[in-house]
Amino acid sequence: LENGLGRTPQMGWNSWNHFYCNINEQVIRETADAMVNSGLAKLGYEYINIDDCWGEYNRDSQGNLVAKGSTFPSGIKALADYVHGKGLKLGIYSDAGSQTCSGKMPGSLGHEDQDAKTFASWGVDYLKYDNCNNPGTSPQERYNKMSSALQNCGRNIFFSLCEWGQNDPATWARGVGNSWRTTGDIADNWNSMTSRADENDRWASYAGPGGWNDPDMLEVGNGGMSTEEYRSHFSIWALTKAPLLIGCDLRSMSQDTKDILGNSEVIAVNQDKLGVQGKKVQSSGGLEVWAGPLSGGSVAVVLWNRSGSQASITANWSNIGLKSSTVVAARDLWAHTSMSSVQGQLTATVAAHACKMYVLTPN
Ligand code: DGJ
Repeated sequence: LENGLGRTPQMGWNSWNHFYCNINEQVIRETADAMVNSGLAKLGYEYINIDDCWGEYNRDSQGNLVAKGSTFPSGIKALADYVHGKGLKLGIYSDAGSQTCSGKMPGSLGHEDQDAKTFASWGVDYLKYDNCNNPGTSPQERYNKMSSALQNCGRNIFFSLCEWGQNDPATWARGVGNSWRTTGDIADNWNSMTSRADENDRWASYAGPGGWNDPDMLEVGNGGMSTEEYRSHFSIWALTKAPLLIGCDLRSMSQDTKDILGNSEVIAVNQDKLGVQGKKVQSSGGLEVWAGPLSGGSVAVVLWNRSGSQASITANWSNIGLKSSTVVAARDLWAHTSMSSVQGQLTATVAAHACKMYVLTPN
């Protein structure tokens, strides 16, 4: 959507993957504090996004959505003020149906203009819009309705479509929102993460500044994968220009988790202004090469070992958009080391479920 937002993939945090419905205003405030204190805010993470379960079961007598009194007693406006005071932005969640997926609060179907105005009046900066409990009518229609409402609400609000990829949103959502889910929900395990990556890969050509494919939020730090697997998860999400929405408890991150989410060289690939989604370009027996162009003629490459044992992986220039005669400097984004004068191919030994990530810059 050409609303000036999402010129690069959105970065921030969302409550769902770690907290599910167990959220309250203290968790959100402490998360904003941790985003700043951990140094992650400085690296570009800016949205603090509240997912499902923030509202009362019923609308008020005027039909307005209201924050749940028992968990958000100060209201969303106060929370937005707090988050803004930290230099961050606040996101909220609703649904293009009669109720949200939890069934614990109303959806916005039929109340689009009213709810968009409510969000604007609270100072909300981002809306994630889910797809549960809808009457079976066209998603284009239902998501367009909210898109127009947001564009007329008096505040510039990032619009994240959460339609789960069921109706190929990549093919129609560019004019509707700033990102669209291409997959069902991610779970905190290797199989789920790798299949989300593959499903999202199919839509690569539709991504670009203003609108991004969304293979769902990060699980890094939630405990279900190894450090190497989380590094692969983060590397592939960065290379494929996925939203970098952290899904763990920022208040109690391990050093490993901080090092992954805080790798500024990997983040720079995701936020590169060219905005081209990297793709899987080689694959054989679980040994994969993913690559994509960056601004200035560089190429980002991930050598990803999805097999069960250590292996050597070679990226050939012919598969990653370089001429075979091109000599590059290869920067290893996890080891933070550089190799000069690499030509024709790049080979590395990669542990099981691990990856190596490089930026190749022609000399
Ligand atoms: C389904 C979405 O895909 C999830 O990301 C999350 O928002 C839940 N609904 C909330 O109920």
